[in-house]
Parts: sequence; C-alpha cells; structure tokens
Amino acid sequence: MPNKSTIRRRLFARYYDRAIARYEHLLEPQKRELFSSLEGTVVEIGPGTGVNLALLPEGVRWIGIEPNEHMHPLLKEKAAALGFEVDLRDMHAEQLPLEDSSVDAVISTLVMCSLPDVSAALREVRRVLKPGAGLYFWEHVIAPEGVILRSFQNLVSPIHRFWADGCNTNRDLGTEIRAAGFSKVELQEFQAPRRAAPPWVRPHVCGIATR
Ligand SMILES: C[S@@+](CC[C@H](N)C(=O)[O-])C[C@H]1O[C@@H](n2cnc3c(N)ncnc32)[C@H](O)[C@@H]1O
Repeated sequence: MPNKSTIRRRLFARYYDRAIARYEHLLEPQKRELFSSLEGTVVEIGPGTGVNLALLPEGVRWIGIEPNEHMHPLLKEKAAALGFEVDLRDMHAEQLPLEDSSVDAVISTLVMCSLPDVSAALREVRRVLKPGAGLYFWEHVIAPEGVILRSFQNLVSPIHRFWADGCNTNRDLGTEIRAAGFSKVELQEFQAPRRAAPPWVRPHVCGIATR
C-alpha cells in the first residue's frame, strides 16, 4: 500500500505541468536566454516533468537527476516529442553519480527550495563541474529583510511544503550559492510577474555560478 508521501509525490507529478504552465509561458524568454550558452554535457538536477528540455540549445548531452519516479514518464514523453535524447536517473542531487570535473554545466530551476540538504548538493555540483564550468540556477527565494512578505513566507512555508512536495518558500538561496565556494557568481534578483505565481513564491534569483 503506497504511503502518504508516495501519494503526494504522485499527485504532484500529475498536476505539476498544469500548475506551472502560465509561469513557464510568461518566463520562457528569460529562461531561454539563461540557457542559450549551454553546450557539451549538461546535468539537470530535479528536472521534474522536463519543462526545460524545449529551452535547451541543440546538441547538448543531457543527464537528469530526478528522484520522483512519477515525473519520469512525463519527462520521457516530452523528450520523445522533441526528439531529444535523455539519460534520466532516479537519484539525488546530494550524491551525484558522476566523476569529478566531468560536466560542462549543471542546471537547477525551482529545485533548491525542495532539497533536503542544499549545501551538500552545491558541494556535489562543484565537484562534478569542470573548472570554469557553471551552475545555471533559477530559484524562488525569501524576500529581503525588512520586507513584510518575508514574515508571510516564513508563516506559509510549512503548509506550502506539505502540498508542494517539500518546497520551502523561505530559503535564502542567493546567499547559499554565494557561500558555496564558486570562483564567480553572477546573480540577478527579480520578481516573477503577478500572473505567474502567488506572492510568496515571487521573489527570485537567477544566474551562473562558475567553478
Ligand atoms: C518544483 S519541482 C521543479 C521541477 C523543474 N526543475 C522545473 O523547473 O519545473 C522540484 C523538483 O526537484 C526534485 N527534487 C526534490 N528533491 C531532490 C533531490 N534531493 N535531488 C534532486 N531532485 C530533487 C523534485 O522531485 C521535483 O521534480
């Protein structure tokens, strides 16, 4: 008999594309721009249903690390429709099944909010990136200190976490990425548009952290 967390993960996978459709539509140009320089071997942590596959430049070799197996069939369907070859692994970002200094880029979009151990995952990302290669990140984060929304994000986080498969609305991921030992972090703060997301997941950071 499936436990409650399995049921929640299955439901999350089933409804994810519908829930994220408007967000993806409105933010697609900026995400495409972020990914435009990707080439070589690209590892995506937490790719979910594969919303980013259509935004990646042609010719990249893609490896996905996705522990929710209920996402896998949806991702594989998208990949097949795009004619995009994927190497999808049921594993965790905190323990990447890859050699040191072996990949040209890592992608993380809306993933670090859900990771059980962000520092361990960032350590792994740095380990597998070749020197000079980058982590391409796009994450929702907690609002800055002094902003009223910040208290609300703290308040709502446990409820959001329950319904959204472990997603925390109150992580300061910009600070975590900056503290993770990359040689350079280019980071942009922005707000997702009102029509894309509720207020508690609107503050975002995106950019490239270079090993
Ligand atoms: C909110 S979804 C984001 C999916 C996709 N990246 C996107 O932008 O729509 C978070 C994803 O992170 C995955 N995830 C959760 N814990 C993870 C871990 N430890 N390692 C890798 N992925 C993880 C979840 O299964 C889920 O697919």
